[in-house]
Amino acid sequence: MSNEARRDAPPGSYVTNHADRTLELESLGFAEGGYLLLKRALRDAGLGRPVVVTGTAPGLEVDLRAWCRAEGHRFEWQRHTEPDGECAVIFNGGAESARWADARLVGAPGASGDSVAEHAPRTWGLAARGATIEAGTPEFDFHLVDKVDVWSDDAARIYQQAVAAQWDPETAILWETSFAIADDIEDAVVQIMTYLIENETAALIIPSRFIAQMHPHFREVMQVLAVQAADEARHIEVFTRRARLRRGQLGLSTIGGQASLKTLVDEPDFAIASFLLSVLGEGTFLSLLWFIEQYAPDPVTAAVARLAAQDEARHVAFGLAHLAQHLSREPEFRPRLADAIRRRHDALMHTAGLNAEVFDALLLMAAGSWNHLALRDGSRRLMQLTREMDEGRRKRLMRLGFTDAEAEELSALHTRNFM
Ligand SMILES: [Fe+2]
Ligand SMILES: [Fe+2]
Repeated sequence: MSNEARRDAPPGSYVTNHADRTLELESLGFAEGGYLLLKRALRDAGLGRPVVVTGTAPGLEVDLRAWCRAEGHRFEWQRHTEPDGECAVIFNGGAESARWADARLVGAPGASGDSVAEHAPRTWGLAARGATIEAGTPEFDFHLVDKVDVWSDDAARIYQQAVAAQWDPETAILWETSFAIADDIEDAVVQIMTYLIENETAALIIPSRFIAQMHPHFREVMQVLAVQAADEARHIEVFTRRARLRRGQLGLSTIGGQASLKTLVDEPDFAIASFLLSVLGEGTFLSLLWFIEQYAPDPVTAAVARLAAQDEARHVAFGLAHLAQHLSREPEFRPRLADAIRRRHDALMHTAGLNAEVFDALLLMAAGSWNHLALRDGSRRLMQLTREMDEGRRKRLMRLGFTDAEAEELSALHTRNFM
């Protein structure tokens, strides 16, 4: 201790042996980690109890006084009986323990570790599940705060699968493969890709919007939606690259197609949006993508459709999983889902739905040429596709507890735009 410090020693603060804890810092500077040792020693000592601190680092006395003032601990200067026996005595002021006195554990009440609460208070904010949160943290503006509205027990598994299944558009597709293709068929492929891109864009925007509204307490769901958005980003990339492989200009985008997608993008309710998008729209798209893969006129088109379809299967699986769980808790929510389909159908009644150019392009691609027999085959294949789409939708609706008759009615009301 410095001479100055000795002069500062308050009168009467002589000695004692009452401090049973001694912290010998020796030459360790206070800022070099000395404070960490002192914090630990004070915690061990407990409220109101002293810790004796000795040390030879320059400025230790000043550092100790300043720190004690800031942290609310009492500082005393004491002289021992033995020669040169001067030291600082710090009494635990309890500020640290008081600060955490009203702290709460982020998670389900009474449960430990990583448990998910039924309701996530907005004041939990961004704190990790299982963390202890200081009282008085700011409230975040999350809208989706109830487990029943978002949760699926399958979310963690689906997220892991999704991460493991990520592919690189650069290497997953052999962009340089040479192939011959008739001009009209290439135009048809470009029109189909143009249509797919705008649908994939809706499929990217919708989960992204809900990520920002979801309480991050439901971490796995947030992660599933984040990877889903990343999947759609890749789909947009590969469909764009295929469209531009041999053409400088893309195909047509129509009022009917965009009006249909706008009803999805504008849907404010997470459960209804994921019902319309994932269960019905992406479910229908699964059939479409496998159809494109099957009748693709070239290996690049087949590859982009196949890779996208594999991802879409996960998007559909998650939509079904969390809606099934939601409905098992709140069966009265089912009629609202049915109403959402009817409302969307009414809103789109006066639009064309799927643009005729897309339908024509699918037919020509499935035919492979203008030959009459080929066109008849293409037409049959397209009719078969719409039947498969309908069957798929009915099957998924029934998995969500709709009756046979309801599933038939609701599937028929699904947008003609497919998504
Ligand atoms: Fe997609
Ligand atoms: Fe998707």
